[in-house]
Amino acid sequence: MAHILIMAASTGKNLDLATSFYNTVLTQGNTAEIIDLCRLNLPMYTPEAEKEISDISSVNNVMEQLLASDALIVCAPEYNGSIPPVLNNLIAWLSVQSDDFRMLFNRRKVGLATVSGGGGQHVIMSMRMQFSFLGSNVLGRSIVINKTKSFNQLSLDAMATEVLK
Ligand SMILES: Cc1cc2nc3c(=O)[nH]c(=O)nc-3n(C[C@H](O)[C@H](O)[C@H](O)COP(=O)(O)O)c2cc1C
Repeated sequence: MAHILIMAASTGKNLDLATSFYNTVLTQGNTAEIIDLCRLNLPMYTPEAEKEISDISSVNNVMEQLLASDALIVCAPEYNGSIPPVLNNLIAWLSVQSDDFRMLFNRRKVGLATVSGGGGQHVIMSMRMQFSFLGSNVLGRSIVINKTKSFNQLSLDAMATEVLK
């Protein structure tokens, strides 16, 4: 039995999509957990904040959850043609926790999905660049839901399977 970590970078439709992924993973006989990034309520990363706050337990929890997972699925809305701040901020905090933070992402299989207003392709491209830079193996196929592309359970079934191969 494999374990998939699912990150939701917004509490609206992207969290709904993360929940659909969660149910999909369980239906396939594996286990999953969702991290609602907005509810982590992380402070904004700045070099000053890093000096002042030495230990953020929620960041340590995410590190443990990543290390305990076999794959990662990220559901994030497009903001201004790019990655929403909560996801960027989490990655910044993770990156300063230890010298070998790359082990969190290196060779990790990552599936990318979005529910966005009009487009969604830009946030997929941005996340693909970000996670590839971190050493992850990002699935070629992504899931984009927007005004003209509706939810398709078959796409979730395929990604939940593919991300574990
Ligand atoms: C600050 C901000 C910037 C946005 N920029 C874009 C954008 O560049 N492209 C797009 O397709 N949608 C954009 N949207 C719309 C969101 O992607 C869309 O509302 C999404 O469904 C929100 O996800 P949620 O329901 O999970 O909160 C933007 C929304 C906000 C709040």
